Amino acid sequence: MDTKFYQLKGTHSQLLIHVGDVAEIVYYGQALSNDVQDADALAALLRPIPYGRLDDDIPVSLNPQLARGNFGSPGVEGHRNGRHWAPEFIIQAVHHSEQQLCIESQDDRAQLRLSVTVQIDAHDVLQMHQTLTNIGESGYSVTRLANTMTLPERAGEVLSYYGRWVKEFQQTRTTLSAGGFIQENRRGRTSHEHYPALMVGPCGFAEETGEVWGAHLAWSGNHRMRVDVKADGRRVLQAEALYLPGETYLAAHASLTTPTLYMGYSAAGLNGMSQQFHRHVRQDILQQRVSKPRPVHLNTWEGIYFGHDPNYIMAMATEAADIGVERFIIDDGWFRGRDDDTSSLGDWFIDEGKYPQGLRPVIDHVHGLGMEFGLWFEPEMVNPHSDLYRRCPDWVLGVDGYQPPTGRHQYTLDLQNPAVFDYLYERLDHFLSTYPIDYIKWDMNREIVQPGHDGMASGVEQVRAYYALLDKLVLAHPQVEIESCAAGGGRIDYEVLKRTHRFWTSDNNDALERQQIQKGFSYFFPPEVMGSHIGATRSHSTRRTHSMSLRGISAIFGHMGLELDPVQASSEEKAAFRQYVTLHKQWRSLLHNGITCRLTLDDHQQQGLAVLSDDQSQALVMVAQLGMSTYSLAGRLRIPGLDPARDYHIELIDAPPELHEIVNRQPSWTREPLTLSGEWLAKAGIAMPLLDPETAILIEIRQAECH
Ligand code: GLA
Repeated sequence: MDTKFYQLKGTHSQLLIHVGDVAEIVYYGQALSNDVQDADALAALLRPIPYGRLDDDIPVSLNPQLARGNFGSPGVEGHRNGRHWAPEFIIQAVHHSEQQLCIESQDDRAQLRLSVTVQIDAHDVLQMHQTLTNIGESGYSVTRLANTMTLPERAGEVLSYYGRWVKEFQQTRTTLSAGGFIQENRRGRTSHEHYPALMVGPCGFAEETGEVWGAHLAWSGNHRMRVDVKADGRRVLQAEALYLPGETYLAAHASLTTPTLYMGYSAAGLNGMSQQFHRHVRQDILQQRVSKPRPVHLNTWEGIYFGHDPNYIMAMATEAADIGVERFIIDDGWFRGRDDDTSSLGDWFIDEGKYPQGLRPVIDHVHGLGMEFGLWFEPEMVNPHSDLYRRCPDWVLGVDGYQPPTGRHQYTLDLQNPAVFDYLYERLDHFLSTYPIDYIKWDMNREIVQPGHDGMASGVEQVRAYYALLDKLVLAHPQVEIESCAAGGGRIDYEVLKRTHRFWTSDNNDALERQQIQKGFSYFFPPEVMGSHIGATRSHSTRRTHSMSLRGISAIFGHMGLELDPVQASSEEKAAFRQYVTLHKQWRSLLHNGITCRLTLDDHQQQGLAVLSDDQSQALVMVAQLGMSTYSLAGRLRIPGLDPARDYHIELIDAPPELHEIVNRQPSWTREPLTLSGEWLAKAGIAMPLLDPETAILIEIRQAECH
């Protein structure tokens, strides 16, 4: 095999892949403006071979192989009845186009074929997947198939996620040292705990500065993400679906494909990385599937829980429309026997006790008010206390002889059973065909234990069957928008977003907690797919009480909604809801199409976000004071990303009513708008006002008229 260098170029980044005996990424960083001769590249990159190791240089390939002397985590692990456990793949063909490289290789002895595809788009987002095919006549058991990337040795720190229900997308930094970093998720869904992504770079990478490589595995099941520091200092990133014992058995001629690993490189810090991912999500994942402005929601859950009375719900809808709501969603509690969370999941028939005339009058009322109508489902689940379970107890995912633990009093249905799949499709299709439903909230409220199908582990197939059910439904009802919710943020990833339109980010509507959660979410997702609702004054998740202004400002920066009962709201509260809904609508086009910049603030108790228009003519800026400020002054607010040469009006458009109390003086711009250049705003900044803990301000920036 000749040796050759292949380039994959985005707009600002590029990869250089050396293909010799194996394919190895030898460069992934800023785009190089000049091409290099292969011979020069080879001479420049040839590694020394130290004593005390194997006699040859061992590249870390796109699929590291034990047989070739890779002592780190291999790309393929498996066996054929105990044999062929260390395949050695010989490259057969390389297909290269400007933005894609596909490498086909084979091991004739092990009778395995491997195909690795890497592509990069104009937004600098890289995608990789690998397919392993059993070309033998007997079965091959795969235990691992990992997407593998090499990163430069200067990568010294990982920014990763942790969390839990009502506290998703928390972040933590880990120094990369011997042993590296590993994260595993075995909860059967994307999970609240281990969002499948990480960011890595030289120590100290920040929002506006530093090099950073971001990685996200688009998969809604078990996964493993790893960044290894090899004994020789090389850095290896792996992202893979985590397979349970025996579940990935390849029959003769069968194949297995990894989920897609998405990566982005930015030399302009985390903001640069996020902006690339946001563009990719908008253009390649959402693909114009949402072409109209995203309607403001009212979701009934925290307003009425299971207490459904159609007349009352219609009164809620009337109030909602008056506030400016554009889509009204009936949450859990509308179907037969569902009076609390202990029963009836699976019985997808209207509760005629609660809705004697069916859903039609409510839907007509909602539509009559000019709003869209949405309905909640949790298709994958069944309560033991349900007609469905009593009729078909063997429809549950599990292993015969073992009693699966319940979660929220429910079991998971085995979607791989065609009878289950067909039943759920029929029920969902029935509702979408019978009623003019514009939107469904698709929930999934428990983790999966023992995903067994016919006695065998089957977690991967359960996820695939879930995708298939969504795909079938989307095909039949392309006009219906779908929210992915899994007890809030338990199933948020790019693969599910290909089939849905937005996420319910968290069951926690506490605006202070939301600030952190929404920040974590923003690294890989643009604001328009982030469900963010104004909740009750006293949060149902934390029992904290927050001002209208913190709740309103926090909610407008996503796909906004209300999660409360507007009938119970006072006229002052309703006026305030209306004010924030109106504000959101005024800025929605900018927020849902613009450029997100997380701000670097002097007071670490503050968090800030600017969303700028593409043409740099305007921006909406939020600063939240999360806790008591560290110092008695709060430093300066600097806003990057505007045109340095243009002048801008800066105006405070929302602030807590007490802003001017208990301070001798706030900065003058909090009363009088001021005009400054984009350069000044980015470099010198403006004095931050003093803010009480758990408050926020909103600043409008508009290009000054030219005279
Ligand atoms: C989950 C969701 C909530 C709500 C309830 C209903 O917790 O995340 O928003 O829909 O289920 O049971």
